[in-house]
Amino acid sequence: MQVPDMMEAKKRTKDNNTEFIYVDPMKNNKYLDKKYYIRTYGCQMNVHDSEEIAGILENLGFVPTEEMEDADLILLNTCAIRENAHDKVFGFLGRCKHIKEKINKDLIICLCGCMAQEKSVVDEIMNNHKYIDLVFGTHNIHELPEYLLNLKGKLDIEVKSNDENVYEIGEEFVRASKYSAWVNIMYGCDKFCTYCIVPYTRGKERSRKSSDILKEVCKLKQLGYKEVTLLGQNVNAYGRDRDDEISFAKLLEETAKTGIERIRFVTSHPWNFTDEMIDIIAKYDNIMPYIHLPLQSGSDKILKLMGRRYTKEEYIELFNKIKDKVKNASITTDIIVGFPGETEEDFEETLDVVNKCKYDGAFTFIFSPRVGTPAASMKDDTPLSVKEDRLHRLNELINKYSNESNSKYLGQKVKVLLTDYSDRDKFKLAGYTETMKLVNVECDESLLGEIVEVTITDTKSFSMDGKVE
Ligand code: SAH
Ligand code: SF4
Ligand code: F3S
Repeated sequence: MQVPDMMEAKKRTKDNNTEFIYVDPMKNNKYLDKKYYIRTYGCQMNVHDSEEIAGILENLGFVPTEEMEDADLILLNTCAIRENAHDKVFGFLGRCKHIKEKINKDLIICLCGCMAQEKSVVDEIMNNHKYIDLVFGTHNIHELPEYLLNLKGKLDIEVKSNDENVYEIGEEFVRASKYSAWVNIMYGCDKFCTYCIVPYTRGKERSRKSSDILKEVCKLKQLGYKEVTLLGQNVNAYGRDRDDEISFAKLLEETAKTGIERIRFVTSHPWNFTDEMIDIIAKYDNIMPYIHLPLQSGSDKILKLMGRRYTKEEYIELFNKIKDKVKNASITTDIIVGFPGETEEDFEETLDVVNKCKYDGAFTFIFSPRVGTPAASMKDDTPLSVKEDRLHRLNELINKYSNESNSKYLGQKVKVLLTDYSDRDKFKLAGYTETMKLVNVECDESLLGEIVEVTITDTKSFSMDGKVE
């Protein structure tokens, strides 16, 4: 039994003791033909962790099911970024409890991910949700086989607060796509933006070895993958935690040289977005001209309170530099409204940046206080109704510009990697342009997995239609 501790999670050591631990995939038949069901919330990191967890489960004999009522094991991979996830997760756990009571008394219920790293969540589980079998955290996914092989039929909590090491589990992923793959390049975050819980739930910044990353990319290419997305909470910090590693710009370049057809990366922080990075993105055709560049706020006062390390002017300068150097770059962003102390004038500064940058798209949020983060105890006297009004006004502006940027594509020919059947129309395929625009494509289904030239026939706010000539 190990429970999380926020003070421990906050600690960062100066000296560099990251060890690379190569984990032996544990194969075992204990759960042969038992069915697992995974529900994932949160960011790409969590989506990719679920692919790793699925690999671990299949090594223990489990097979996937789409129906939670049929499952022998239900695993909930959670996100802690905003408070509203809490009710969703506990609502879902209620359904799991019902299944365990009424359908399958042997059902194994597991909860993991970023909420598992929150002490308040673990306390709530220990007090009121003892029907859960296992809670484990983001630092010990590699120990899941052991936990599952030793389940005792009562609640087990195994959450580490921090870890110095990088665990390599090899090829043990069950990837959701056969064409586009996630590749972790680093774990954790040391930025400590004052509103954000990620540095506490994911721990210290730790880069993987570039040689391991490149090996993984080459293997994926061999397997027929057309696209990789390099993952990190702040990819431009890649390598900074080690003396013997290359920079993110160099890593991008080396990845480009593998010859894989498409390379993407998320998320880059505007701070320390170097000229070298921009030049390399511009230089290689297989590095996609799409950048997610979170703004958070346009007000210098709020940016400072957020601990973002850039000013409005610096952000706009960087934005323009990227637009100048990377042809046809599309840029999206994240914005928080209603941060403690945000006045109407501060909010108008944010609108001003949106008017200047005319983003291709944006994720927008109302500030959500996260227990233990500095912003949660800042004085906040803006009423919720005012924050909701700001969010609404912001979204109107964001939609206007994303519509405008999409409408420029009408009649154009663009390259689309067809990764799925369309959600809207089962007779169409869907995929993304190089600039990360979703296109539903009328074409033969044999083109699934291919990069094809598509003529855009219609554009909407969040997607486009097209056909293959
Ligand atoms: N590492 C990424 C962000 C990951 S979280 C980065 O630095 O850009 C994704 C987004 O959630 C953030 O960009 C931010 O806009 C939003 N977010 C994070 N904490 C939040 C909070 N406490 N309240 C509201 N939105 C938040
Ligand atoms: Fe959170 Fe900031 Fe780290 Fe992004 S960079 S994960 S917003 S602390
Ligand atoms: Fe959520 Fe954790 Fe990602 S808090 S956004 S799942 S790193």
